[in-house]
Amino acid sequence: MDLELDGKIVLITGGSKGIGLACAHAFAREGARIAIVSRNRENLSAASASLGKAGFTVHTHAADLRDAIAAQDAVSTVEQHLGPIAVLVNSAGAAKRYAPAALTPDAWRDAMDAKYFTYINAMDAVLKGMVDRCEGAIVNIIGAGGRVASPVHLPGGAANAALMLVSAGLANAWGSKGIRVNAINPGATLTDRVQGRLEAEAARTGESIEARRRAMEDGIPLGRLARPEEIADAALYLASARASYVTGALLTMDGGVHPLGS
Ligand SMILES: NC(=O)c1ccc[n+]([C@@H]2O[C@H](COP(=O)([O-])OP(=O)(O)OC[C@H]3O[C@@H](n4cnc5c(N)ncnc54)[C@H](OP(=O)(O)O)[C@@H]3O)[C@@H](O)[C@H]2O)c1
Repeated sequence: MDLELDGKIVLITGGSKGIGLACAHAFAREGARIAIVSRNRENLSAASASLGKAGFTVHTHAADLRDAIAAQDAVSTVEQHLGPIAVLVNSAGAAKRYAPAALTPDAWRDAMDAKYFTYINAMDAVLKGMVDRCEGAIVNIIGAGGRVASPVHLPGGAANAALMLVSAGLANAWGSKGIRVNAINPGATLTDRVQGRLEAEAARTGESIEARRRAMEDGIPLGRLARPEEIADAALYLASARASYVTGALLTMDGGVHPLGS
């Protein structure tokens, strides 16, 4: 299947790690020209080396996307180096988890900065150009936690819920300009961050990492966590010409935990 991504310029926020890095590899394999943005230069260098080892070159840009001006600057710099961005994949940032008793107004605000505004700032910066060119696709990696009111993930869940509405709303607003906006809601996906969480839980409970992982996998009909590459494959499809009539969609990828996306 030709995804028609060859030569397209693709910006992946959070592309230095986890799902974003898997997306960078996947789009590069399709012949796209990739730019990745994250805060830490060492993470960017490691990602660049990993892509280089696979035979791909990548443009890297260090920016904290919580800052709207830094996001605008990142997009301008990428467009100066590579050309107009055809695809934006948002995968930067994640909100901290809090026990309900530890919640403060600052914790809620931090979650919005860490997860909601990182995505909003990147979309705002690319959308103007996409609207002028009447062409573009955006894929937001959001999170199933936006549909489940987990008491230990309320600020992050709220940011995810807001992003779902924004994705659908922007799809509606800009569809007539040829711009598609779609979202993916991954369930637990085995990135380094989730591996770190498993290690911390194992240390806290005295159980093995394997036992903690099995506990997480319990109740997932597919019987395992997602792999970052599986989320990347869905992002590829949604960004591609093969999804030319798909916009405002939310793809739940939780191994069947919430049938019908409920
Ligand atoms: N893994 C899961 O189980 C899961 C499930 C549902 C949803 N998600 C969502 O999917 C996205 C990716 O998750 P992941 O597990 O792949 O995370 P990850 O491995 O922690 O990677 C996050 C990436 O975002 C970058 N980043 C974080 N904050 C940033 C900021 N303020 N500005 C710019 N870059 C920033 C990080 O690099 P730097 O540290 O260098 O900035 C890194 O490249 C997140 O939004 C997460 O909420 C993940």
